[in-house]
Amino acid sequence: LRLRSEGIVSKRRIGILGSGNVGMTLGSGLVRLGYDVMLGSADPRRSAIPWATHVGRGAHAGTHAEAAQFGELAILATRWHVTQAAVADARAALAGKIVVDATNPLVFHGHDLPTLALANDDSAGEQVQRWLPQSRVVKAFNAVGVAQMVAPAFRDGPPDMFICGDELAAKRVVGELCRTLGWNAFDLGGITRARLLEPLAILWIAISSQRRQHDHVLTMLVQ
Ligand SMILES: NC(=O)c1ccc[n+]([C@@H]2O[C@H](COP(=O)([O-])OP(=O)(O)OC[C@H]3O[C@@H](n4cnc5c(N)ncnc54)[C@H](OP(=O)(O)O)[C@@H]3O)[C@@H](O)[C@H]2O)c1
Repeated sequence: LRLRSEGIVSKRRIGILGSGNVGMTLGSGLVRLGYDVMLGSADPRRSAIPWATHVGRGAHAGTHAEAAQFGELAILATRWHVTQAAVADARAALAGKIVVDATNPLVFHGHDLPTLALANDDSAGEQVQRWLPQSRVVKAFNAVGVAQMVAPAFRDGPPDMFICGDELAAKRVVGELCRTLGWNAFDLGGITRARLLEPLAILWIAISSQRRQHDHVLTMLVQ
């Protein structure tokens, strides 16, 4: 695992809500970097406890509320249709904390590309911030596949992780987290910029289904 040693985020305990592909990928990467991580789930027996047992030291499992309580910083990694229930369980424990929102409000249509349940004049990032008015929501990690999410290795160096959120101090911490995981953080502005970031996830998926590969990232080149 090629990771940068600098820029280690000061928040050492991280709670992840959602124990699926994204939760386990970020969780395992962060444990390898020395963080203590709790994966939260509606039913921890399903995959959070097996994950923690498999990963071992530094890995913990619990409910969404327990993961939110455990984390000095939280990451939201649930399927969109269960996100409201997950954040409702965790709302009190997330008050005042940075919440990294990796979700996409995807609606699936069989073999066709998914569409967005919220778009144009709203976004999942904004909805999450409305559900958690006392938390500091930063959108990140939503427009990259799990295969490249931790320590992406490209010849031209770290790719860009586009982030957005209303609070500068929170974005600084999330920017550090991105660098720690092998990314350049590119701050797009306030949380309304999630309206731009969530369609990027569908672009990522479209490229993936066209190429039948998961090894790409969307980045920015500047002359
Ligand atoms: N997969 C990717 O490459 C990727 C990349 C970037 C962003 N995202 C976004 O990140 C979020 C998580 O993605 P993921 O791939 O990790 O999702 P996932 O593995 O399909 O599911 C994540 C979690 O959502 C809950 N969930 C999923 N299906 C459920 C169902 N039928 N009934 C009840 N709960 C269900 C579970 O939560 P509990 O653990 O609480 O039970 C599950 O652990 C999504 O919003 C996705 O759009 C995904």
